[in-house]
Amino acid sequence: MFDNYRTMRLLTLCALLLLGCPLAAQAPGEKIIGGPYVVNVGPRSARVMWVVQTGESSIGSEPGKPEKRVPILRAEQAMFNGLKAGTTYHYDSFGGEAGKGSFKTPPAGTSKFEFVVYGDTRTRHDVHRSVIASVLKNANPDFVVHTGDLVEDGNDTSLWPIFFDIERDLLRKVAFYPSLGNHERNSRNYGNYMDAPPYYSFDWGGLHCAIIDSDIGNVGTTESERMTFWNEQTRWLENNLQNSQKADFRFVFAHHPPMTAVKVRQGDNPHMTSLELMFRKYKVQAGFFGHDHNYQHYLKAGVHYFVTGGGGAPLYDVDVPPPGITVKVEKTENFVRVLVDGKKVQVQAIKPNGETIDTAEISQ
Ligand SMILES: [Fe+2]
Repeated sequence: MFDNYRTMRLLTLCALLLLGCPLAAQAPGEKIIGGPYVVNVGPRSARVMWVVQTGESSIGSEPGKPEKRVPILRAEQAMFNGLKAGTTYHYDSFGGEAGKGSFKTPPAGTSKFEFVVYGDTRTRHDVHRSVIASVLKNANPDFVVHTGDLVEDGNDTSLWPIFFDIERDLLRKVAFYPSLGNHERNSRNYGNYMDAPPYYSFDWGGLHCAIIDSDIGNVGTTESERMTFWNEQTRWLENNLQNSQKADFRFVFAHHPPMTAVKVRQGDNPHMTSLELMFRKYKVQAGFFGHDHNYQHYLKAGVHYFVTGGGGAPLYDVDVPPPGITVKVEKTENFVRVLVDGKKVQVQAIKPNGETIDTAEISQ
């Protein structure tokens, strides 16, 4: 009856409008499985995103007998420009209550705000859900930084709807800044859904945040490709930190930590350990990492190092805390709440049940 799919979609949209129904972005048979969420938030612009399942694809070793089915997903987005700094915006992304959300744009200059950091949400979905519930209950963040390993395998489209379902109530009220973990497998899905490059930075009030991709194992197939990437990123980070010396604070975020209390993983990330000198040189006050599924806090040469990989993945022992630098290590699920009040920063690590694990004050 219809000439083509586009005509059918157009007529459906017209019918919905005539009926006074909320404008739905998806065509018949499509459903929204993720979002809305907001990425690339700057003082003047932001990108509202949501993910649509357009169908399903199956595979099996015999014709007509599918053994595995995966959803086909498409990211939708709306870019908003000309925004004002330090302002709360309310958006309506795809119609209906489910499509509504809000976020703040970063304030300019020294100010007061709150953000949270967590990571390794890839498995034990019930635990992931309890961490997000705890964030919603015990914190009131303007933005969230995810330290990577959002899902178990970034290439598997059956996992992203689970991530977005669990994160839904949080993501629709914050600005989201992700970082790449090894479990994203450098998948194009990560880039599509997060609209994030491997490394980038942003400013929020007097705080400068640099997000880097520590997962060099997946950036290339040869050692030469991996080293080329790492050298480029390191040059970028050095310039970035050098150019942010006027900020009140400089924080760095990545997936792999420079040090760990997990015995079997000690010495695993020499590329990250090699950045410690740069952190000192450019007065980075704190680094936030994941990859190890527990909570760890170190203070080394004036730099705080937090490992907050307690978002759901199976817990690891903290059996050999590095001597001389360990402030607190605990084998527990967690997220980290950071309160910035002008030139004072308070960090609080929190368990899903609301119990405080550790607190720290960071000064310039
Ligand atoms: Fe990891």
